[in-house]
Amino acid sequence: MPEYSGKKKMPSMLPHIQALETYEGVDPMEVMAERAGISPENIIRLNGNENPYGPSPKVAAALGNYENYNYYPDPGQRSLRRVLSGYLNVEPERIVAGNGSDELIDLLLRMYVGVGDNVIVPTPTFGMYSFSAGICGGEVISVERDDRFEIDLEAMMSAVTAKSKVIFLTSPNNPTGNIVPEAQTRALLDTGLLVVMDEAYFEFCGDTAIPLLAGYPNLVVLRTFSKWAGLAGLRIGLGVMQEELAQTMISMKPPYNVNTAAEVALTASLEDTSVLLDRVKAIVAERERMMGLLQKIPGIKAWPSQANFILFSLPEGQGQRIFDGLCSRGIFLRYFDTPQLKDYIRSSVGLPHETDAVVAALTELVEG
Ligand SMILES: Cc1ncc(COP(=O)(O)O)c(C=O)c1O
Repeated sequence: MPEYSGKKKMPSMLPHIQALETYEGVDPMEVMAERAGISPENIIRLNGNENPYGPSPKVAAALGNYENYNYYPDPGQRSLRRVLSGYLNVEPERIVAGNGSDELIDLLLRMYVGVGDNVIVPTPTFGMYSFSAGICGGEVISVERDDRFEIDLEAMMSAVTAKSKVIFLTSPNNPTGNIVPEAQTRALLDTGLLVVMDEAYFEFCGDTAIPLLAGYPNLVVLRTFSKWAGLAGLRIGLGVMQEELAQTMISMKPPYNVNTAAEVALTASLEDTSVLLDRVKAIVAERERMMGLLQKIPGIKAWPSQANFILFSLPEGQGQRIFDGLCSRGIFLRYFDTPQLKDYIRSSVGLPHETDAVVAALTELVEG
């Protein structure tokens, strides 16, 4: 028994933390396998938008050859920022690396949002924005996208109040796969709020807001090595922003937030970009093949995607049954059952045999 049990008192936790809803991350392969009663190597895991090809082969070699894991990494991220600067063609002073881009979302919110402030999020979108805003005690103003999942600019503008601090934009958006048109980004930047442009899937589409940084000090662009470079397990993302903001972020982040293994892996990945970008091309080609196959299944409506996943809707009322049927076959996709995404599933783009298995199972399960 821990010694604090029994009659000893605990201070009461902050109310907004008590009210927090858990962010449901992706379960490990073994847990999925046990749930389906199938061995882990036969599981098809397409619910996390991960990279099916894994890291560059240079990563394992670099991790094995590195000898200084006994030392803490550089809190100022000097060599890491220099390497990233070469890759992004942006001054190192304007770059901050994070323990995944998730950490940068959290840090930005902690810099700008307190209890009573609000954050504007066009929904449906990535869940971390509201989760991290909730940790700061911020209110999330969800502005529904239109029936083509485009941002409703007018509704976004009218959502802005004196309490609004941050707007999150995601391009391509998770889970809808579409990009934010530049005119919308500019209009939202003109509000003067902090605009965080999350480009986690940039490499699959090539569309970026980085050139806008020159004219808008209130813009932050986020990227990650989780998707295109296959480093999700090592947790490394980055933000590009104005120098003063980057400097503050560097000084308020946990000193050793990016571990040395992640830095070694990132550096090795950037020495092998042609291999990694060929894989990105293969994923994009597979996405288009999967799209064609999904569109042929009666009752399924698949949404065009510029990322490494596809969102599709199922015939009304069949979502749960089909999702359960997929799970029992060892196929794990992301199921949505929200008012905006009722009977929707998102599938990451995997290897060709995985696409074929998903399409075969859906063909069997969907009652058109
Ligand atoms: C839009 C978006 N941003 C950020 C992330 C998280 O990236 P990271 O692994 O760098 O934390 C994801 C992951 O799914 C995502 O979809």
